[in-house]
Amino acid sequence: MHETLSCENLTLAYRDGERTTYALRDVSMSLPPGKFYGIMGPSGSGKSSLLYLLSGLKRPTEGKVALGELALSHLPDPELMRLRRTRFGFVFQQPFLLTYLTALENIVVAAPQPSAAARQKAQELLESLGLATMTHKLPSQLSGGERQRVAVARALINEPEILFADEPTAALDQTNGHRVIEALAAWRTKGTVIVVTHDAGMLTGADEILSLRDGRRVEPQG
Ligand SMILES: Nc1ncnc2c1ncn2[C@@H]1O[C@H](COP(=O)(O)OP(=O)(O)OP(=O)(O)O)[C@@H](O)[C@H]1O
Ligand SMILES: [Mg+2]
Repeated sequence: MHETLSCENLTLAYRDGERTTYALRDVSMSLPPGKFYGIMGPSGSGKSSLLYLLSGLKRPTEGKVALGELALSHLPDPELMRLRRTRFGFVFQQPFLLTYLTALENIVVAAPQPSAAARQKAQELLESLGLATMTHKLPSQLSGGERQRVAVARALINEPEILFADEPTAALDQTNGHRVIEALAAWRTKGTVIVVTHDAGMLTGADEILSLRDGRRVEPQG
């Protein structure tokens, strides 16, 4: 059974000498499993900060993040790392593929073992993402949109309970952006999907949109 990801009174402060910058202030939310959530807000509003805290890539200054009953913001490093590796998947703005590996191999490297089963699964993921003929191509032989879909497949090979994406379409045109969003959104049948973007057009299919302004949660605009 998948669990609800939640946060309570999350605050992230950066201290720079005398000055303190608040990237996030007092943010609370509850994200039941099996939905596609969009996180929106202008540049600097704290979207990436929120995603990093929810996914355990950063620790909050105050407040907590929980997956079900488990306070992941307060887990020791090795356990947090294991949880991230086994239960979370990540897609970033750039795909960060290994240039000397094929599309298929780039997906298989994320699996615990480079087994025949992992290769089979990577092949199925490529097919489901419309990349069946790209299996043996190098990243340099793929378009930007194709590379990003390979990055989505890589994030999915371990069947993450929660799939996080930070501006996954920012480097793509509208058509390719929508393809990548569709690939991410489709995962909601198997897990939770959380996508950060400043492009409202990418979130028309979202189940819920959370908006940030100056590090605080606000009601979505219009
Ligand atoms: N390492 C850091 N040190 C100091 N301040 C930081 C640091 N990282 C982020 N900030 C500040 O925290 C605030 C939120 O940053 P964040 O990256 O979360 O915004 P964002 O909504 O993702 O913006 P963008 O749309 O440009 O990616 C900004 O004011 C930013 O300048
Ligand atoms: Mg950001």
